[in-house]
Amino acid sequence: MSFKQVDYKGLKIEFTEALTSQFSASEIKLIWRESLRHYFAISYSEQLISEDRNFTSNECQLLNQLVNRLKFGEPFQYLIGEVEFYGLELKMDSRALIPRPETEELVDWICQNHKGEISNILDVCSGSGCISLALSNTFQEANVLGLEYSKDAINLAEENALALKLPVRYLEGDVLDLKSFENSLSEQVKQNGTFDIVVSNPPYIPNHEKKEMESNVLDHEPALALFVPDNDPLLFYRIISESVMPFLSTNAWIYFECHYLYVDQTREILIELGYQNVEKRQDLQGKWRMLKAQKS
Ligand SMILES: C[S@@+](CC[C@H](N)C(=O)[O-])C[C@H]1O[C@@H](n2cnc3c(N)ncnc32)[C@H](O)[C@@H]1O
Repeated sequence: MSFKQVDYKGLKIEFTEALTSQFSASEIKLIWRESLRHYFAISYSEQLISEDRNFTSNECQLLNQLVNRLKFGEPFQYLIGEVEFYGLELKMDSRALIPRPETEELVDWICQNHKGEISNILDVCSGSGCISLALSNTFQEANVLGLEYSKDAINLAEENALALKLPVRYLEGDVLDLKSFENSLSEQVKQNGTFDIVVSNPPYIPNHEKKEMESNVLDHEPALALFVPDNDPLLFYRIISESVMPFLSTNAWIYFECHYLYVDQTREILIELGYQNVEKRQDLQGKWRMLKAQKS
């Protein structure tokens, strides 16, 4: 496709029409606003008074390319190479999962529940670093550590930490294999003390749900970040809850993002392991999405 209009109003209409079959009206509005901010440095407030602006042919070409790639299914956040998460501007690309709004809600729950008393935080399955970096930004005195299997995701998280000047460190390890990270964690605990908060948004989508998912997720985001075996969808929760126990402070808290259909079963796992004060929480869409529990 190729845009014919160069004036602001006309181009916005063509842009919207080109994406209508794939995105909702509110998503297109957001993509338009973000594209103008990202590519042409037109701020949101400037956009409100830009109706008499014309676009050059190079600018139109850029927007054409963007629309064509969006129609091909590439996620917008990968195309512009950034995403906003809990007030932080994160670099984003196909090395890691795009942070979801419900994960921001999990971070917010932690930030609302705790104040300055937190010294050590562990983010298991840290991906792009979104959770660990947002917590480091909030709990500025805390040591924050991420644990992740994918070297690509670790590289992205480290680039984000460097760009944001946040002192988060990332360990490579397979959380399903305690041996691959217990020495590094023990070392960390010897140096800084036990963890006051462990948080995780692990892979939790059973393989059989793939057929209901959008192709822009399936074809472009890392499968490692998403899927778990149909016959054991809660393996990450079981293994994480148990394997971090020796590294927890007295009365430490563990927080999970969960699959809404499995939140009660995940809650049972925590109770069986002896965690107390287990509480579930809904996300803004009304789905049971989060759990917190305290070490007894
Ligand atoms: C749902 S994503 C969450 C990423 C990030 N924390 C977020 O909230 O956007 C799950 C992450 O777990 C990582 N992962 C998958 N299997 C793992 C394993 N066995 N050990 C450690 N991390 C693993 C994936 O690479 C991915 O980054």
